[in-house]
Amino acid sequence: MRKTASPKTYRVESFGCQMNVYDGERMAEMLDREGIAPAADGADADLVVLNTCHIREKASEKVYSRIGRLTKGRENPPLIAVAGCVAQAEGEEIMARSQAVSMVVGPQAYHRLPAMLERAVGGLRTADTDMPADAKFAALPSRRKSAPSAFLTIQEGCDKFCTYCVVPYTRGAEISRPFSALVDEAKKLVEVGAKEITLLGQNVSAWRGEDAKGQAIGMAGLIRALAEIPELLRIRYMTSHPADMDDALIAAHGEVAKLMPFLHLPVQSGNDRVLKAMNRSHTAESYLKLLDRFRAARPDLALSGDFIVGFPGETDAEFEDTLKLVDAVGYAQAYSFKYSPRPGTPAADMDGQIAPEVMDERLQRLQAALGRDQLAFNAASVGKTCEVLVDRTGKFPGQMLGKSPWLQSIHFTGDAQIGDLVRVELVEAMGSSLGGRLV
Ligand code: 5AD
Ligand code: SF4
Repeated sequence: MRKTASPKTYRVESFGCQMNVYDGERMAEMLDREGIAPAADGADADLVVLNTCHIREKASEKVYSRIGRLTKGRENPPLIAVAGCVAQAEGEEIMARSQAVSMVVGPQAYHRLPAMLERAVGGLRTADTDMPADAKFAALPSRRKSAPSAFLTIQEGCDKFCTYCVVPYTRGAEISRPFSALVDEAKKLVEVGAKEITLLGQNVSAWRGEDAKGQAIGMAGLIRALAEIPELLRIRYMTSHPADMDDALIAAHGEVAKLMPFLHLPVQSGNDRVLKAMNRSHTAESYLKLLDRFRAARPDLALSGDFIVGFPGETDAEFEDTLKLVDAVGYAQAYSFKYSPRPGTPAADMDGQIAPEVMDERLQRLQAALGRDQLAFNAASVGKTCEVLVDRTGKFPGQMLGKSPWLQSIHFTGDAQIGDLVRVELVEAMGSSLGGRLV
């Protein structure tokens, strides 16, 4: 590495989940504080942070090809930092394989990015993949801007060890951020423009803390406390594991008006043998029963889930059970993936790895079923009037986009500003969005 000039502009490129989006925003705020400015759209940046995802295939290949494109043929290539879960999992290899990378920083260590940057400018390369619990958040600058819909990480890591998943290894053990820090950050976000906050965690409902009086509380207590912030209009959370959903949280769905009628609750498979091999602690039936309790508390609850097809050993009949579960639930939306063996996870070494063409066929059938249900859910909303939080302008002049309480994307034309909560009559349903009319 040669010495370089201090960077004047930066870009953070985030891949993967919402937690990475949140981390990306926090890294950007830190760089702002260092006096580095975000690069204009389309312009080259002096510093590029690749905030990577390791959850499925080809994660590291993507990183190397992005590094290639950033450096090839450029006389003054940018300083490159690799952050996120690929950095955590493969940091040393990345350092060895790509001289263009001067910083590797894991998801629990990114508060040290400014110090690493100083070293990089001096020509030194650093990898930091320590996992100190909670030190990071205390070291970050306070929030200075927010979109109408903001993310707030309240919990990190996972102790569940589903046999297919890398998260327990890349993000480490479960930690909960302290209650007071979360209330402060939520208030700050609202002060700088947030109307809606989505509480994030790999296992969000495993959050535990103590309230201002020192009483032990869980997610429900946290949600009720945040609902007291007057200008905060909407609260959401993701992603949950069925094992952590308690009565208090179910009750909150029926009682806290600001808690939106939407639940993302991954199930992964509808077959009990597969669920067991995945080390999920629920069965298809216990999952459905849990949803019944949520729906009893909040009848208009929209449901979302995650699915994996082609887990090692999954037979055709076992896959059919997943389709049956989908039929039984009627999801408003869902994510579905082909199983991807992750090095170091138990499932990667299991017998019965499924052929790619079988996975393709199963994924197509599952997505057809999920798409059909999403359209049906949207069609059933036509004729309703609901509140939409406007968060973007659309492609066409005067068109605005926002989200319904059930997390549907709504577009309409009319006099509204980004950040407004407006009443919209839903008039037309598409597969993944609805057209509305301002009322
Ligand atoms: N292969 C495919 N999908 C996976 N997911 C997690 N690990 C894997 C894997 N190895 C999916 C799960 C999880 C979502 C975030 O990603 O469905 O809920
Ligand atoms: Fe990807 Fe999971 Fe890491 Fe998010 S936490 S970036 S989904 S591996």
